[in-house]
Amino acid sequence: MLSPTQLLLLPPTLLLCLVIRRILTNFFFHPLSSFPAPFYTRLTSLPLAALSLLGREPEFLHNLTKKYPPSTRAILITPTLLFFPHASSLKPIYWSPTHNHKGSLYGTGALGPTSLFSTIPAEDHKSLRKSLGGTHWSVSYLKTFQEPRIDNLVTFFVNQLSLLPPDHEPFQMGEKLAQFAADVMTLLVFGKPWGFIAHDRDERRLLSAFRESLPMFAFAARCNSFRELILSSPWIRGLIMPKVDDKTGSGYLASQAKLAVAQREQEREQGIGGEGKMRDYLDYTFDARDGNGEPLTRAQKEAHATLLIQAGADTTGSGLGAVLRLMLEHGECMKKARREIEVADEKGLLSTPVLYEETKQHLPYFVACIKEGLRVNPPAPNLFGRIILEKGGTVIDGVHVPQGAEVCSNPYVVGRDPELYGPDAEAFEPERWLNGNEKRRAEMEAANFVFSMGPRVCLGKEIAMMEMYKVLPEIVRRFDFEVVSAGKYVDRGGVACNKDFMVRVRRRA
Ligand code: HEM
Ligand SMILES: *[C@@H]1O[C@H](CO)[C@@H](O)[C@H](O)[C@H]1NC(C)=O
Repeated sequence: MLSPTQLLLLPPTLLLCLVIRRILTNFFFHPLSSFPAPFYTRLTSLPLAALSLLGREPEFLHNLTKKYPPSTRAILITPTLLFFPHASSLKPIYWSPTHNHKGSLYGTGALGPTSLFSTIPAEDHKSLRKSLGGTHWSVSYLKTFQEPRIDNLVTFFVNQLSLLPPDHEPFQMGEKLAQFAADVMTLLVFGKPWGFIAHDRDERRLLSAFRESLPMFAFAARCNSFRELILSSPWIRGLIMPKVDDKTGSGYLASQAKLAVAQREQEREQGIGGEGKMRDYLDYTFDARDGNGEPLTRAQKEAHATLLIQAGADTTGSGLGAVLRLMLEHGECMKKARREIEVADEKGLLSTPVLYEETKQHLPYFVACIKEGLRVNPPAPNLFGRIILEKGGTVIDGVHVPQGAEVCSNPYVVGRDPELYGPDAEAFEPERWLNGNEKRRAEMEAANFVFSMGPRVCLGKEIAMMEMYKVLPEIVRRFDFEVVSAGKYVDRGGVACNKDFMVRVRRRA
């Protein structure tokens, strides 16, 4: 029998043994222990999880990268996650046909039902993407079929802003643009805008419910022991992970998607809308066929509708807000962009509202501002993890990575890689997309990681870019902005926002 003193000492002794074992494993015997890392990220995944919750992760990773010599190609940012900070790592990670197996970021269930985005195995994703992808995500389709409808929303948005009296209360421009993006998303996905701009509010709590889901998504994705000890129990999983009928977060969004799918099913059965109906992305989801020619299951349709709600609104709003905010912060850029619009207007080159193709052809400086804004303040500064499945591992950016390892990169950090963007990599300089070495510019285009890249790249990228190319030049053309509060770029667990970006707008003559 143990004496009372011995009994008392048992728990701390056990704990000490566990800690020593953890140290020995992580520092000496783990397959990734030879990679450089600060001692605390090698020891546990908690620091990264906490930094993400605090909205400091992008900045932390960027700081960390600068602490190591440029010869350092990969850093261990949790005991099991290898981070690649340089743009030269992107192609070998994300374009490799063999690393499309997603990592721990995706499989936690924190965003609700398993969707295209959260499908882990490469093969399963490939067939689902084949079913759900297609020409309706392309620029040429969007220009022909959806741009006229987006034009209506741009015109409505400009009119709403024009109605404000000159001395109106300042408002959050980041929120306003998120509302615009949410109207576009609901228009495209469900057939009509839910009225975010019309009512100046977060309709059906779509934006706030999305934001509520981010902390759990961020924490569960990073914290290994949370996943291994807590989420591994189906009972606790059921208790804390989102489920349909929740009043908040992803569970609530999933319930909205479920309602929309049920309603559409009825309408389609009754032939409502019929031949002449403008098809929306919910129709395309119903039309999707798997490899055997079968429609998707009810659960797959609901998951896809949930994903589109989550993926399409706040991200795009964040990008719109960041570009405008950075242009206003750099007055000389705004001046140049405006001059470019005036010159194009004098030549009669721009419609009202401006068309995607017109911006692309006639407003190259504005386009450069958009690219630069997204580079410096990417809307999704997340860790897009992939698992290396090749036998014997693989080589990424010159370093050998063992089989089974999880690797990732981050658009905020690779977008600041001095090897690609030079010593002024952190500055907002739209000119870099227009001047200088052509080869370098092509490399910059190829290193665009804002929407991720490769076979699992954002499906809605062209929709988001179309919004950027239309609503931003149009409001710069029609309004002067008085910046009441400059605001700043803040990460919220993988999706950024433009916090406290307050303006007054005045219609230009
Ligand atoms: C500026 C706005 C946007 C940004 C920054 C963005 C970014 C991303 C990123 C980084 C991914 C993940 C890729 C990965 O896991 O490696 C993604 C996936 C996805 N996005 Fe977007 N997105 C934006 C707008 C949109 C819009 C407007 C839609 C649709 C309405 C959309 C639909 C999707 C879908 C369906 C996926 C999953 C693709 C797949 O896994 O095959 N996104 N997006
Ligand atoms: C990053 O570095 C800056 C400047 O040294 C510092 O002020 C900031 O607190 C650091 N941030 C993080 C999250 O490490």
